[in-house]
Order: sequence, then C-alpha cells, then structure tokens
Amino acid sequence: MSLQLPSDLATRPTPFYLYDLGLLRQTLQAAQRAAESRNIQVHYALKANTNDPVLQLMREHGFGADCVSGNEVQRALEAGFAPDHVVFAGVGKSDAEINRALAADIWCFNVESGPELEVLSELAGALGKKARVALRLNPNVDARTHHYITTGLKANKFGIGMAELPGVVDMLATLPHVELVGLHVHIGSQITDISVFETLCHRVNELQQWFEHRGIVLPHLNVGGGLGVNYEQPDEQLIPDFEAYFSTIDQYLRRRPEQQVHVELGRALVAQCGTLVSRVLYVKESQQTRFAILDAGMTELIRPALYQSYHRIENLTSQGEEQLYDVVGPICESSDSFGRRIALPETRRGDVVVLRTAGAYGEVMASNYNLRDKAPAVYV
Ligand code: LLP
Repeated sequence: MSLQLPSDLATRPTPFYLYDLGLLRQTLQAAQRAAESRNIQVHYALKANTNDPVLQLMREHGFGADCVSGNEVQRALEAGFAPDHVVFAGVGKSDAEINRALAADIWCFNVESGPELEVLSELAGALGKKARVALRLNPNVDARTHHYITTGLKANKFGIGMAELPGVVDMLATLPHVELVGLHVHIGSQITDISVFETLCHRVNELQQWFEHRGIVLPHLNVGGGLGVNYEQPDEQLIPDFEAYFSTIDQYLRRRPEQQVHVELGRALVAQCGTLVSRVLYVKESQQTRFAILDAGMTELIRPALYQSYHRIENLTSQGEEQLYDVVGPICESSDSFGRRIALPETRRGDVVVLRTAGAYGEVMASNYNLRDKAPAVYV
C-alpha cells in the first residue's frame, strides 16, 4: 500500500483528511504534460477541493480556475490565480456574485440562459464594462455515470438547449455589454468510459458548425471536465490516464489553429491524493450483522450516503483474519454507512480505518450536522 501517513498518527485525533502533496504534484505534472503537448489549457474546478495548498499547486502548474460561486472566485483570486485565468460558471449566479466577478475583471462568464445574459449585460453596463461570455450549451450527450452527476442531458437544468439557442444568439446581438468568446459544454462527472469524450467532441464539432453557418467565430472551446478515477482499486491507478483523455480530445475535436481549447477538471486532479482517516469506536454484533462504527461519518464524507458511491475501506492497524463488516458512521441516519459487507481484517476498537480516494468532493461537502466539528486537513 502506498499511503503516506503522518509520523504522529498514533497520537493524532481522528477523523481528519490526509492529503499527499507529493502524489498531487505527480498527478498535476502528468496532467500538465498531457495537456500542454496538445495545446490544451486546464482550468481546475475549485468545487472539488478548495484547500489552500491544493490551490497553490494548481496555480504553480499553470492551471486556471473554474469557479461556481462568488466565494470561489474570491478564493481563486486570493490564492493568486490571475483574473484572466478565472472563469465563473453556474446556473444561478446572483447579482452580487456577478458584480464581484465583473469588478475583478475575470476572464469569462459561462452563461446558462437568456435571462442570465440580459442581467449580465445590464450589470456590466452599469459598471461601464463589457463582459466576456461563453454560452454553456446542453449537448444532450449521455455521460453514462450516476444520474445525480449527469449534467448534459436534455432533462438536466444545465445549459442552453438547442431549441433556445437561436433566440439567445439573436439576443446577443442586441446586448451591448456582453461579448461572445466561446462555447462551453460539460456533460457529467466520474466518466470512466473515454469513448464518451469522443462522442462529446463530435457533438461540439456539430455545435461549432451551427455557429459557423451564422458567421460566428468562436475563439474558445471549453469541453468541460468529468474525467473519472479508479475508486475500486486506487493503488492500481493513482494517476488517471490523462494521455488517453487529452489525446481523445486532440484527435476528435475540430479546431482551427488559433482556437483555444479549455478543459475544467476537478476530480481527476485531486481525488486520489486525499484520504479520510478515522478510528473504530465500537465493533457491534447484531444477529445478522457485524458493524464497525467509525468516528467519521456522512458529515465528513457524504458521497456514499448521497450517491451510493464506493470508497475503498482499509484497516491499517489489524493483520487479523478477514471478516465481513458493515462500516458505518456515528450520525443519526441509517444512510450514514460507508459500505455493507466489507471484508476487513479482524477489527477492534481503536483501529485506524481509512477511506481512500476522498480528495475530491469530500471535505468540500462536509457539514456540521449533529453539530459535529469540522475534520481538519493534514498534509504530508
Ligand atoms: N465543470 C462543470 C460545469 C461542472 O459542473 C463540474 C462538476 C466540473 C467542471 C468538474 O467535474 P469533474 O472533473 O470534477 O468531474 N459531488 C459530486 C460531483 C459533482 C460534480 C459537479 N460538477 C460527487 O461527489 O461525485
């Protein structure tokens, strides 16, 4: 096992999030190499993890920032991302958030509807500015992932549908304070079937053609994020296959030489470097089930409860014979479970149990339900 643990683990209170910055560096280097050699720009999707050391490394590797709230824009700027490397996306931006981003002169707003476009133009006008916009289109491509994290189907709330697009493009011509710089698509997250990105590229090519027929040149193409990671066997693929991902885009996305291509990756960059570390509070046997009750629960990592997602569970203390456990947290909800019938070496109170691949959408989705303390972050 390749986990780097803090030297004071024996005395350190749990639960905590552990981040391996060495692994993060290697991951970012691999992504950077694969992207740069194909002249593709990576924008890190802050929503996956907003911790400062993470943001610093993203910036050092030349990545931009993909933000979905005024506070994320603020955090990116505070972390030192240049405003012209910051994008503001999201289906429901408030006036106050838009104004903050306009004041900071960020690179681009990813706009998701006609009404949003009107508001943006009005607010930009009031500040004497012109906002750069990319239209987020709903490409109606199935990401073949969990329905909660699918975003590019007609039925989803995201993006501008093809039926609405002509109206929005006509509207653009009438709004003096917005300037169209590109198009944006994002179809979902945790996509492990690379051919989905090939389908997406074909769709974006069709969308580009639609614009070209209207004499509109798009300097930027943003094909979103979504590259998945290996949750089942993290040690077999600690670094996602960025070569396969970027070469697919390179091969299938039609682009003119001067056109810039962006991707917005979150999970693939940070998932594997993060681990939730906990201790076993009790082992409780009922007639049918043996429970290992951890001091971490859905308040620290909600993904299993919310999406039935799998995080590999490992007991780092015991070498005993394997038994089956339902691994649960202390929260007063039956859904506060990390996995049923998980094979672990014989587990006892005090054993250190980790949940792997928790660096993305882990800490950022924590809550203080049951008035729980926030689990701290530890870096190795
Ligand atoms: N761009 C847009 C417009 C997005 O909505 C997202 C993620 C990303 C980029 C980054 O996607 P990634 O590369 O990380 O897949 N909480 C869920 C995931 C929600 C993803 C939301 N949007 C989870 O824990 O699985």
